[in-house]
Amino acid sequence: MSLTIPAGTVVAVVGEYGSGKTTLVKLLNRFYRPDSGRITVDGVDLSEGQWQKTALARATTRREPLLFGLDEPTASLDVPSEQEVFQRQMARARELAARTGAITVILSHRFSTVTGADLILVLDRGRLEEIGSHQELLARQGRYAELYGIQATAYAES
Ligand SMILES: Nc1ncnc2c1ncn2[C@@H]1O[C@H](COP(=O)(O)OP(=O)(O)O)[C@@H](O)[C@H]1O
Ligand SMILES: [Mg+2]
Repeated sequence: MSLTIPAGTVVAVVGEYGSGKTTLVKLLNRFYRPDSGRITVDGVDLSEGQWQKTALARATTRREPLLFGLDEPTASLDVPSEQEVFQRQMARARELAARTGAITVILSHRFSTVTGADLILVLDRGRLEEIGSHQELLARQGRYAELYGIQATAYAES
């Protein structure tokens, strides 16, 4: 996959289990090293030394992260807690974006969370199937629109 995430973007990643969401966020966070290709920040490759510095800085303070990754952070929470956690995390994402240009990547199956993102990535078997805003992806009437439709229908029925 090839994509550019502008500074200060809140990115949501959706896709079925095994589509590569966690792998993507681990690559972005440098928990994994890419076998091929490059991940750059402001056009510069995320060198080993820089990564170590970042990790060390993180160990002392996480007040100004470059990238804020949330991998299904509320999968085990009840609905009111989930709502609260997401509201708090989204407020933090927006505050960080405005202050430092930090990027937030949220992996979630809940479309109530996903629709609020600036950019939505739809993964399928390790590939980037669709990319765009909620409105753009709905208009495309592709995979995202289909997944969104399934959840919207389920909510309407319940
Ligand atoms: N460390 C690993 N080594 C080899 N394959 C892996 C590893 N982690 C995940 N995979 C495989 O990569 C694919 C994507 O997994 P993952 O990123 O965890 O998906 P998701 O988070 O979207 O459910 C799956 O087929 C999974 O089995
Ligand atoms: Mg995952």
